Amino acid sequence: MLIKRSENWQESENSVTSETVYLNRRRLLAGVAVAGAAALAPSVFAQRDRVLKPLTATPTSFKLDESPTPEDAITQYNNYYEFGTGKGDPADNAWRLKPAPWSVKVDGLVDKPGTYALEDLVDFNALEDRIYRLRCVEAWSMIVPWVGIPLASVLKKIEPQSGAKYVAFETLADRDQMPGLRWPVLDWPYTEGLRMDEAMNDLAFLAVGLYGKELPNQNGAPLRLVVPWKYGFKSIKSIVRISLTDTQPATSWNISAPREYGFYSNVNPDVDHPRWSQSRERRIGEFGRRKTAKFNGYGDLVAGMYAGMDLSKNY
Ligand code: MTE
Repeated sequence: MLIKRSENWQESENSVTSETVYLNRRRLLAGVAVAGAAALAPSVFAQRDRVLKPLTATPTSFKLDESPTPEDAITQYNNYYEFGTGKGDPADNAWRLKPAPWSVKVDGLVDKPGTYALEDLVDFNALEDRIYRLRCVEAWSMIVPWVGIPLASVLKKIEPQSGAKYVAFETLADRDQMPGLRWPVLDWPYTEGLRMDEAMNDLAFLAVGLYGKELPNQNGAPLRLVVPWKYGFKSIKSIVRISLTDTQPATSWNISAPREYGFYSNVNPDVDHPRWSQSRERRIGEFGRRKTAKFNGYGDLVAGMYAGMDLSKNY
């Protein structure tokens, strides 16, 4: 397991290329690539250029007094290790993912187990717009206008049994679609989990889109979790399995480096990562740094769930 390897994920705070320079370079390269692909191989170009359908969603009170991060930053500066560990790798490689048709296996302690077509699990007539802050454990953040549904609405549909205490999630793991799986960077498939009360919290969200359109592949198409009071790695992408369990599920980052990534992973400026501070963050597209807020600023909605817990031990 490549725990101590130095990669973007783990870079020191002052070694970061300015996102403006990075994104400008990517825009330039994308332009060259599009022109080249169009000239040389129109069929390949068409395959890569997935058209994202617009989604109809109802505005909600889950919004922020901050401008959303520009769409191209959200879609070109990603973490999706199944497509490579570089920030630009997901945008370059995720065209290989086939997001439709898509199904999700539901199992464990539920009364309605089965394999659900995405459209049977998610009510596309009840989509909501929500603007959330995403705080990555690497100490950067973005403001993302998501489209999706509360996780609780899906859980109600599959009817958890009374013994269910946790929800476990699994990402697709298909070597043909995901070139990053060739490298044992993480224990594939990528897995994540929430305690039942966290999963039922109003903020926990399943996204199917962003900026009013379907999710781009690199952002976790067609279905990803968004848990805004936790570090970004809890927000698992391209979900193919949801299991209800009575024991705390194993999660990929915790398996890979238990001292560094706990099960809870609530955003906490008071608990440093063993190798860097979590007290500040850089907002993508901005110079300088801001202070990180406990629970990523969502404490009034979530802090009660952790009453009595020592969050420096339960990190
Ligand atoms: N889900 C899967 N399956 N694989 C990943 O590598 N990366 C996580 C999370 N979900 C990841 C994942 C991390 S570290 C972050 S910060 C967010 O996705 C990034 O989401 P974004 O690329 O849409 O900004």
